[in-house]
Amino acid sequence: MEIITNIASLRTRLKRESSIALVPTMGNLHQGHLSLVQLAQQHAGCTVVSIFVNRLQFAPHEDFDRYPRTQTTDCHLLEKLGVEIVFLPDEKTLYPAPQEFQLLLPAIADTLEGQFRPGFFQGVAIVVLKLFNIIQPQLAVFGKKDYQQLYLIQKMVQQLNLPIKIMAGETVRSQDGLALSSRNSYLSESERQQASYLFRTLFHVKQKIEQDDHNLRLLEEWATCELAKQGWKVDYIALQQRKTLLPANNNDTDLVILGAAWLGQTRLIDNLEIALT
Ligand code: PAJ
Repeated sequence: MEIITNIASLRTRLKRESSIALVPTMGNLHQGHLSLVQLAQQHAGCTVVSIFVNRLQFAPHEDFDRYPRTQTTDCHLLEKLGVEIVFLPDEKTLYPAPQEFQLLLPAIADTLEGQFRPGFFQGVAIVVLKLFNIIQPQLAVFGKKDYQQLYLIQKMVQQLNLPIKIMAGETVRSQDGLALSSRNSYLSESERQQASYLFRTLFHVKQKIEQDDHNLRLLEEWATCELAKQGWKVDYIALQQRKTLLPANNNDTDLVILGAAWLGQTRLIDNLEIALT
């Protein structure tokens, strides 16, 4: 496995490859990330995993400084999987000058995560577009765990005519249902015991809808109250159409329930797809 930190060396190395898959990450890799890597490996001859904690997608009060950085362990894990290349740029490499050029994103980027983390998707879009330009993969893999991020990247690729196929990886969970996340390491032991309640609440709503309860707005309210009763501070619980990420209506068949809530000082997000026949 090669660990490459500069763009020129990476481009020279990639000239030899005809089928490149990219898995962008911020590191502190867990089984969720690794499942995306394995998906990439099934569909390309050369898999590049990027590790970069992107300052641009963190608001000043957010956890950029304390975000877990575990590059040595990350590289060991990737080597064990047989990854060809890890791209590990520093800030100067990806942002040689202050980022004055911006992307204007569709209105959906100001909803859900975007409403509670203004500027977050602008930061994500810029860094992902940079990685796409630098690596020029034929395939890039993103997780459904960050459902709105995946949605926006798919839109960006379509609307900017980027010749890249986007593949979606399923969310990997621990046994109690909690979606794996680098931020789970912020949870205390007792918080960790309660953390799967977000998943369980979303799952309960999914079951109710599948059993023909179509009072979508009431179900959102119910879930919000349930979490609040257990001491969570809910940012949003939203039943949306999968195709548009706009609020779902009673007659929609492809839904997704998305939720974000604080458990103490830790903000967790999760979602579940719901298909009605
Ligand atoms: P990061 O949070 O490191 O996630 C990297 C990729 O792993 C994303 O596509 C994310 O959806 C996926 N992922 C995270 N947890 C997962 C889980 N439990 N199961 C499956 N996939 C999971 O998302 C980012 O980094 C950044 O925003 C990035 C796209 C790298 C841009 O900076």
